[in-house]
Parts: sequence; C-alpha cells; structure tokens
Amino acid sequence: MDIDWLFRRDHSDLVPYTPVLPPESLAKLGNVQVADVIKLNANENPYGPSPRVKAALGSYNGYNIYPDPDQSSIRALLAEYVGVPSDYIIAGSGADEIIDLVLRATIDPGDTVIDCPPTFGMYSFSTNVNGGSIISIPRNSEFNIDIPSVHKNIRDNTKVIFVTSPNNPTGNIISESDINELLQYGRLVVLDEAYSEFSGSTLVSLVHRNPNLIVLRTASKWCGLAGLRLGYGIMDPKILQKLMSIKQPYNINTAAEIALAASLEDLVMLKENVEKIVAERIRLFDNLSSMDNVTPYPSHGNFILCSFSGIGARDVYEAMASSGIFVRYFNVPELRDYIRISIGIPEHMDKLVDCLTNILGQTI
Ligand SMILES: Cc1ncc(COP(=O)(O)O)c(C=O)c1O
Repeated sequence: MDIDWLFRRDHSDLVPYTPVLPPESLAKLGNVQVADVIKLNANENPYGPSPRVKAALGSYNGYNIYPDPDQSSIRALLAEYVGVPSDYIIAGSGADEIIDLVLRATIDPGDTVIDCPPTFGMYSFSTNVNGGSIISIPRNSEFNIDIPSVHKNIRDNTKVIFVTSPNNPTGNIISESDINELLQYGRLVVLDEAYSEFSGSTLVSLVHRNPNLIVLRTASKWCGLAGLRLGYGIMDPKILQKLMSIKQPYNINTAAEIALAASLEDLVMLKENVEKIVAERIRLFDNLSSMDNVTPYPSHGNFILCSFSGIGARDVYEAMASSGIFVRYFNVPELRDYIRISIGIPEHMDKLVDCLTNILGQTI
C-alpha cells in the first residue's frame, strides 16, 4: 500500500534537525565505556541540577494528576525570577517549544522568517516544519548581525526575525541599539536568551515598551534541567494569549514544574555553578589562545567556538571522539573549519586541552 501521498507535500524535502546523541551512543561511536565519555557537545550543565530537585521529585505524590494548563504557579515563579508580571510569561517544553509555538501562531503557508547564521538550527528547522521558508542573512566576519541586510531582505510576508544573544555557536551578544533597530521593522523579533545567565546581561526590560518583542529563556543550561525540558517566553500579554490558545493543554510536565520550583529555591548554589562555568570558560579561552593553529572566539555563553588552520576541524573532532571527548562539529558550509566546545568541569577541560595539544602535536 502506498501511504506516501498521505503526508504533507511541503515536508517531502525537509532536512531533519541534527540532534546530539546520548552518552550511550557516543560511547559506541568512540569505542569507549559510557563512564569514560566526556560530553561537551550540547552546552549542558556539567554540575547537574540542584540537589533539591531530586528530593522534591522523590517526595511528590501527585503524578497521577494532569498538570495545570494555565501554568499558574510556574508562571508566578518565573515572573518573580525575571522581574515581570506573570501575564508576560508562558512556559514550554523547552525553549524549543516556544520557538515552534511562535511559528505555529504566525506562519501561513509560504510566509518567511529571518535568521542569521551561524546560529541555532531550530529556527530554520521549525520554520520549515510549519510551512514557512527561511531567509538566512549571514553574520559578518565578527559574527555580528548584518542589520542593513536584514532590513533589505524583509518581505511583505516576513513574520518573524530570530536573533540570539549570546549567539549559539559564536558566543557573542547583540547590542541594545541593534535590537531597537530590528524592532522598528514591525515584525515579531524573537530574542533568544537561552545563555543569558552566563553573560550576566539581558534585554528583557525592552519587552514592556515593545509589543513585538519575545524573549526566550530556558532552565536547560544554567539550572541543569535540559532533560526535564523547561523553557519560557516573555512577551506582551496580547501575543501571549495567542500562544496560550494554541499550545497543548498540558505541555509542561509536573516533574519539570517541581524541578523548577526546587531550583529557584537554590539560586545561590546554581549561581555558584554558573560562576564556576564562566571561570572555566575564561581558562579554556586562554589555553586555546596559546595554541598555534587554533583561534577561539570570545564567548558570553557556556561554550567556545574555535577555528583551526593547518588541520581540518572534522579531523580534530574525530580524533577527540576516539579519545572519548565529544565536542560539536557542525556539518554546514559556514562552520566547516570550526568546532564548538561546551564548558565542562575543570578535570574534563584539562583532558580536552591535553588531547587537543596531542592532536596538534604541540606542547604548551
Ligand atoms: C540558542 C538556543 N536556544 C534554545 C535552545 C533550546 O533550549 P531548550 O533546551 O530549553 O529547548 C538552545 C539549546 O541548545 C539554544 O542553544
């Protein structure tokens, strides 16, 4: 029986998102034990969640009850954390879900969306899944957004402009004046601040003055909750109501809600972990800078992008993987010479530097 015709025609040439593999699969790839895998490929938090999360999840008794579709308590908690009213907050199963919701709410078939590569791949992936088409405006040589080119390429059917600060994978941040300029164009501007806690900066205060600005955040990175999937968006209540009206009713699972509440009671510890990660980022940057064939790019996130000369980035990636160290290699033309290293614990960073030094045949 032919069932192909049952599926959406516009998905026939959809390029799937390339996700990172779990440690078990990486262990097989690198031919190492799972316990020996050093996973530095998904910007995860090497310190894990607050210990309070495990205790709170273990002692909760209501898992047989559906979660609150209005997300009342989670929105109140996040509102207090961010410093906005709770009717400005919507939570999602990761920031990924909010990206999808924004596009589901705005894209009619064929509408266009702007992103600025190299950047997070979910913007183009979700645009294509939702029947839109992406207009990619490459960043300049310093990885800043080419604002005049964004302006020039806006079409009548352009609904959304995605910008990321700090940008993944380049690590740089966007200026307030650039965001203000983009906001003038009358499209939805989605400012993805998934790594804001590592940069110590945010432009969330602009949301009050700009009904077309959506700021995205996540508990995946600084809270160490990537596996429980909890992200959120901050926006004018008018957009928020649109998103609330199309989301799945129980999109936030109870475990994520409990974990977030426990995390927000342990801010001191979580912020100490962020500081440790930032300190390691600075140390790794210095180490990479002292290597002859490596150029690291200054980063405000929990990762560092670097490029290589005299050796292929893919070869570096493969040599590291065979030692059990997994960094991110992006198989796209604009990042062919680059790898992205997520910041891990000091011991893992030392191993990475030793491994890279061996691969490059250098002593530092
Ligand atoms: C810029 C950016 N936004 C969003 C996400 C996804 O966040 P979440 O885990 O909350 O879906 C990531 C994950 O790597 C990211 O790099």
